[in-house]
Amino acid sequence: MIAQAVSKAEGKLGVLIPGLGAVGTTFVAGCLLAQRGLAEPVGSLTELGSLRVGKKSEGTLSRVRDFVPLASLDDLAFGGWDIFPDNALESARHAGVLEERHLTPIAEELRAIVPMRGAFHPEYVKRLSGTHVKRGATKADLVEQLRDDIRKFRREQGVSRTVVVFCGSTETYLEPARCHQTMVGFNRGLLENDPAISNTQLYAWACLQEGVPFVNGTPNLAADFPAGLALARERAVPLAGKDFKTGQTLVKTILAPGLKARLLGLNGWFSTNILGNRDGEVLDDPASFRAKEVSKLGVLERILDPEANPTLYGNIHHKVRIEYYPPRGDAKEGWDSIDLFGWLGYPMQIKVDFSCRDSILAAPLVLDLVRFIDLAQRAKLSGTQEWLSFYFKSPLTAPGSHQVHDLFVQNAKLKNALRAMMGAPVVTEPGPEFYE
Ligand SMILES: NC(=O)c1ccc[n+]([C@@H]2O[C@H](COP(=O)([O-])OP(=O)(O)OC[C@H]3O[C@@H](n4cnc5c(N)ncnc54)[C@H](O)[C@@H]3O)[C@@H](O)[C@H]2O)c1
Repeated sequence: MIAQAVSKAEGKLGVLIPGLGAVGTTFVAGCLLAQRGLAEPVGSLTELGSLRVGKKSEGTLSRVRDFVPLASLDDLAFGGWDIFPDNALESARHAGVLEERHLTPIAEELRAIVPMRGAFHPEYVKRLSGTHVKRGATKADLVEQLRDDIRKFRREQGVSRTVVVFCGSTETYLEPARCHQTMVGFNRGLLENDPAISNTQLYAWACLQEGVPFVNGTPNLAADFPAGLALARERAVPLAGKDFKTGQTLVKTILAPGLKARLLGLNGWFSTNILGNRDGEVLDDPASFRAKEVSKLGVLERILDPEANPTLYGNIHHKVRIEYYPPRGDAKEGWDSIDLFGWLGYPMQIKVDFSCRDSILAAPLVLDLVRFIDLAQRAKLSGTQEWLSFYFKSPLTAPGSHQVHDLFVQNAKLKNALRAMMGAPVVTEPGPEFYE
C-alpha cells in the first residue's frame, strides 16, 4: 500500500443498510446512544482502539481515531432497505436484542428510519415472504430502482459521502457462474433475469455503479467475482467482506493460532450453536446454511496449514452445526469440543461454552467498517480491501493472495495498513534495533 494524501472526513456520511434487522438496528441504536453519551461503544476499534506509531522507546501510542481522519459519530446519517415495512424502532423491538431502557431515549430517531422497499426474489431466502418489495420486470430494473434510492437518500440527507453495509438475510449458496465473469455478461444476466444473480448482487451492483463503497456482512455472493471486481476498479470503489466474524468463529480464530504456536496437535473440532432469531430461522434452510458452513469451515484449515504440519494437523475432523431454537432469540449459545494432543501424542480436550449475543458482537464491527471503508475511498483505495480481513469469517483477498484468518495477524495487518496510509513506518517487531 502506498501512502497517498487522505482527504478529510468533511460533511455528513450516509450509511445505508440493506436489511434493517437485528444487526442493522443494534448498530444504528448503539451509534445514536453513543452520540448522546448514553452508552459505551464497546468492541469498536475506531472508538476505543489505539496503535503504536514509531519506536516502542518513543512510547507514542495514538488513538486510532486521532491517527486517521474518520467520520465522527455525529456526522453519520442512517437509512436502509428491508422487505418488511417496520421502521427501525419496530424492527429493533421485534429483534429483541436491546432493552427498552436503550430504545426509549432514541425512539423518535429510530421511528424516523423507515426502510425503502427491498429488492427481493424469495427463491434465495426461502424462509421469508417479504411484503415490502420492489416490482420490476427484470433484475436490471431493480438495480436502477436501487440506484434511484441511493441518489434520493443522498439528496434528502444532504450527505457528502455514502457507504453501504449489507446486513440482509443469508441467501442460498451460490458460486460464480458464467454471467459473473465479465461486466457485459453480468449486465446481460440482469436483463435476462439470470438465476445465478441473487438479491445481494443487485445491491452490490447498484452501489458500484453509484461509486458507493460496499461492505458485505453476510456469506452471500455479492461482488466477489470477476465482473464485480472489474466494475469496482473501473469506478474506483473499495469493497470489503465477507460474513462478520463474531461468536464462535471469532473464538476459533483466537484459540487455533495459540494451539498452533505451541505446536499442539488436533484430532477434531466440533462446533455447534443454538440460535433463535430471524437469522437462525433463515439458516434453518439447508441451502442458506450451506453458505454459512462454507464460510465457517475454511478458517481452521487456513490457520493450521495441514500440508506444512501433517503430523499435527493432517487428520482433523472439523464439523460446524447451527440449530434454530426460538427460545434463545438473539442470545446464541455456541459449544466447541476440541480434541487435541500433546507430547508423545497424549490426548486432551478443551470445551468452550460461549453464551454470546450475536448482534452485540456484530454492531461494533459495522461501525468500524463504515468508517474504514469510507476512509479507504478518501485514501483513493479501490477494489478488495484485504486489510479489513480482521472483521470477516471469509475475508476477500486480492487476486493471487490467500485468506488470513489468525485474528492477531489480521489485527497487525489492519494497523500497518493504517500506518502505511498515513505515511508512518509499519511495525514488524523485528528486534532491538527497532526500539533501542
Ligand atoms: N449477528 C452476527 O453476529 C452475524 C455474524 C455474521 C453474519 N451475520 C449475517 O448478517 C445478516 C443479518 O443478521 P441479523 O441477525 O440482523 O438477521 P435478521 O434476520 O435480523 O436481519 C436481516 C434482515 O434482512 C432483511 N432482508 C432479507 N432479504 C433482504 C433483501 N433482499 N433486501 C433488504 N432486506 C432484506 C430481513 O427482512 C431482515 O430484516 C445475516 O445474513 C447474518 O447471517 C450476522
